Amino acid sequence: MASTLADVPQASGRLPIVGHSLAMLRDPLTYIESLRTYGHLVRIDVGRTELLFALSIEALDDVLRNKAADFGQGRFMHRAEPLIPNSMLLVDGEEHIDRRRHAQQHLRRDAFRAVTERHVNLVQQHMSSWTDRQWIDVLEETLTIALRTVLHVTLGRQFPLVREIEFRRVFGKTLHLISRRVMIPTWADKLPLPVNRSFERGSNYLTTFITQEARRSLDEEQNSGIMKRIVQEYGEEKIGTAISDTIAMIMGGTETLASGISWVLYHLGKAPEIQSNVWAEIHETIGDRPPSFDDIDKMPLLAQVIRESLRLYSAPILARTCIRETVITGVRVPAGTSVFLSPYATSRNPQFFDRPTDFLPDRWSVDEKATRLAFIPFGAGRRKCPGEHLAMLELPLFVAAILQKWRLVLDPTVPVRPTFAVTVRPNQLRMVVRKR
Ligand code: HEM
Repeated sequence: MASTLADVPQASGRLPIVGHSLAMLRDPLTYIESLRTYGHLVRIDVGRTELLFALSIEALDDVLRNKAADFGQGRFMHRAEPLIPNSMLLVDGEEHIDRRRHAQQHLRRDAFRAVTERHVNLVQQHMSSWTDRQWIDVLEETLTIALRTVLHVTLGRQFPLVREIEFRRVFGKTLHLISRRVMIPTWADKLPLPVNRSFERGSNYLTTFITQEARRSLDEEQNSGIMKRIVQEYGEEKIGTAISDTIAMIMGGTETLASGISWVLYHLGKAPEIQSNVWAEIHETIGDRPPSFDDIDKMPLLAQVIRESLRLYSAPILARTCIRETVITGVRVPAGTSVFLSPYATSRNPQFFDRPTDFLPDRWSVDEKATRLAFIPFGAGRRKCPGEHLAMLELPLFVAAILQKWRLVLDPTVPVRPTFAVTVRPNQLRMVVRKR
């Protein structure tokens, strides 16, 4: 017989009214990792809202795959609604499956064969402003590269430069505010707090701006962006839906990709001997010509470096809400219960990886199937990232294009810390580029 929520342990350190919110706010990543001692599930309170944290592989499997139909995106995702209004990120069931399918068919790996050259060119153009021994702000640089790539894929166009700079500034700030909102109680969303006002203002600016640019791209006859193709499939009356899902792809794909590239560059800077080996592999495979789609699978060390970097810095939290009563690892969970899980914490669990906090790309040279759901940087199940193929093409191509021309040197005196946001991103990352 299934046990009930009352049988699930409650995390220690709960305070009246705020629950575990303060502990989470203080150092969210450490806090989330610390929960792993509790077994399959643990209860924590964000304010007065009780939620379940799914910890074991079995619990993840139930939430993401076996019982996926019993879960919706729920209230935590809806708190980001002003930023992703009406998008596929907010709908569940058949509508989600249908809208996702429309986007996903244009995000297959093969669909990008024709555009990778253009994307490599975007990176090369961007790097042409770098000079030998220059300090670069890696977070700024990678956000620019990621945004331009995702815009090219989705809207088939770029933002005007001046507006792109403003967009990036507001984008970074607004995404940061989402992660703050997840950890304050839901009832506080409606209060006129600075965090809420900034979030609303930022979200309005970003969605209005993308909508204007999206409408421009629909007017372009030669436009080959995904959005225009989705509109053609849906028909004109569903332009609003296509724009909303394009916003979701831009929001879902830009920061994640930027953060992914940044962490790879960080690790290569931190381990110069690995950087030399990766460069040698790139040099041997590609020489001086621009990297192409067909080169990607020929560079196993680069692939291992990227996997290892994604392992160490996977998504901090995925959130779901039970839409009907269900059972997770033998525990009966009532409808309405919020469930969190953390790919970040799982892939740092010593139960699944030896020396889990060390950067050891070589671990991926042996069969990694044993890790199953312990390594899910793109999630799993019906909400698995539809941009995975695009990301796994762009990451090696961009890193190869950068390393072909530049050696990256990390300043050892400036500590780089992971911070909790929509992704786990570096608090800051400055590197020196040395011309090869
Ligand atoms: C390194 C890069 C990336 C990482 C690590 C990443 C990670 C993720 C994860 C973990 C999820 C699952 C969220 C969940 O289960 O709740 C997700 C969903 C999503 N991602 Fe990505 N992503 C990346 C790149 C992209 C790109 C390039 C795009 C766009 C083209 C994209 C678009 C989306 C969308 C639209 C969803 C929502 C899917 C749904 O709700 O069905 N992502 N991503």
